[in-house]
Amino acid sequence: MEQKGRGVGLVLFPCPLQGHINPMLQLASILYSNGFSIIIIHTQFNSPKSSNYPHFTFIPIPDGISDVLDSISDGFAFLSFFNVNRAVPLRDCLLRLLSDGAKEAERIACIISDSVMHFTQGVADSLKLPRLALRVSSTASFLAFTAFPVLRLKGYRPVSDSELETEVSELPPLRVKDLPAYNMDNIEKECQFVGSMVNHVKPSSGVILNTFHHLEESELAKFGQEVPIPIFTIGPFHKLFPASSSSLLSQDRSCITWLDTQPPNSVIYVSFGSVASMDEAEFVEIAWGLANSECPFLWVVRSGLVHGSDRIEPVWPDGLLELMISGGKGCIVKWAPQQEVLAHPAVGGFWTHNGWNSTLESICEGVPMLCRPCFGDQKVIARYVSHVWRVGLHLEINRLEGGEIVRNIRRLMDEKEGEEMRERVASLKEKAEVCVRKGGSSYESLQDLIARILSF
Ligand code: UDX
Repeated sequence: MEQKGRGVGLVLFPCPLQGHINPMLQLASILYSNGFSIIIIHTQFNSPKSSNYPHFTFIPIPDGISDVLDSISDGFAFLSFFNVNRAVPLRDCLLRLLSDGAKEAERIACIISDSVMHFTQGVADSLKLPRLALRVSSTASFLAFTAFPVLRLKGYRPVSDSELETEVSELPPLRVKDLPAYNMDNIEKECQFVGSMVNHVKPSSGVILNTFHHLEESELAKFGQEVPIPIFTIGPFHKLFPASSSSLLSQDRSCITWLDTQPPNSVIYVSFGSVASMDEAEFVEIAWGLANSECPFLWVVRSGLVHGSDRIEPVWPDGLLELMISGGKGCIVKWAPQQEVLAHPAVGGFWTHNGWNSTLESICEGVPMLCRPCFGDQKVIARYVSHVWRVGLHLEINRLEGGEIVRNIRRLMDEKEGEEMRERVASLKEKAEVCVRKGGSSYESLQDLIARILSF
């Protein structure tokens, strides 16, 4: 282990959602392997599994979310809750740590917090503690956030149906319908939240990005102009430390045994991450599409995937579940060891919602994608997957319908265009491997990050 960070402590504060906890804990492991001591301050809600990280110190702070969880309607309201309510407990906790640290030999150099927890910048400033912001999504999606004020002036927020296909000249190749969206019912609040997030990254002591240079070269250059602070592009993090140990749900490994029985590149893996949900009609169409596709599939149907009712588990129409898994044709689990699934030789395609972690994991295993983004950054990412890197098909139909699903699965899994995407994504996979190796751009940027932290 490199020891550059020895005697220096770092406080990390994740946002309590699976897609945010994974990269934060991967980053913690990367920094720990360079000698830094790691303290994770976390909410009680979705608290990380500390037993998987015996070498880190975990400190919970009260979050108060359980009292209001039922009234929180979406992810955006969830994030806003933390930003409005958690400054005092975080500040108290940091104050205690800083005064303890002064007594002990180890100094705390900085706090690293998720960019969506924008209140942390004010807390850090009040304690004169440097803050580094972690962006857990693509550079392109952050650029879209920085453009929100202009987009609003241009009338793209809220947007009329007639403008959905319009190209956004500031953000090629995005169209209006690809712009991130969290809460179209309350544009004012959405713009305020995004504005706060962007405006609190700008005064930070630097931003850490989970991406790699080759993937987003021109976006990174633009980002440097928009946000003139030190930028550390050190991804993909999961190439260095896997996501499995930070999984909040237990991963059902029986699907790996099932994959072992399937021919190479034959299986489509279907998962929509930890937050996205759909209505019952869409869920049933996907089920019929998979059942009729004649393509072996592995589908993650997690609790809460189907919304629109009080139920946590979906109700399957009579006989459909049996039809789907009869003869071992399909496998359905509640939560999978995703990275391992994508690395399995049987997996030839990934139907994804294009969360950034899933997208990076797919790229790094050379798996082409069927893109069905749900909200937020996922729309931007899907556009890049299909139109910039050209390693996936964008399912752009308004209402999913079984026949269309079958047709697109075939395009991806059996036809020439799918084969071409597989070749392109294999080349990106190689580039990602080069970036994190000694001398690669992510490796070098990590050395810069370490030097920056040591300079605080
Ligand atoms: C959230 C946002 O929704 C997303 O838009 C943003 O880019 C990141 O934060 P989420 O929707 O959960 O994330 O998706 P994603 O970013 O793909 O992260 C999901 C993580 O859960 C991945 O690391 C994946 O490997 C893991 N996972 C997913 C499992 O371990 N098992 C599963 O069955 C499914």
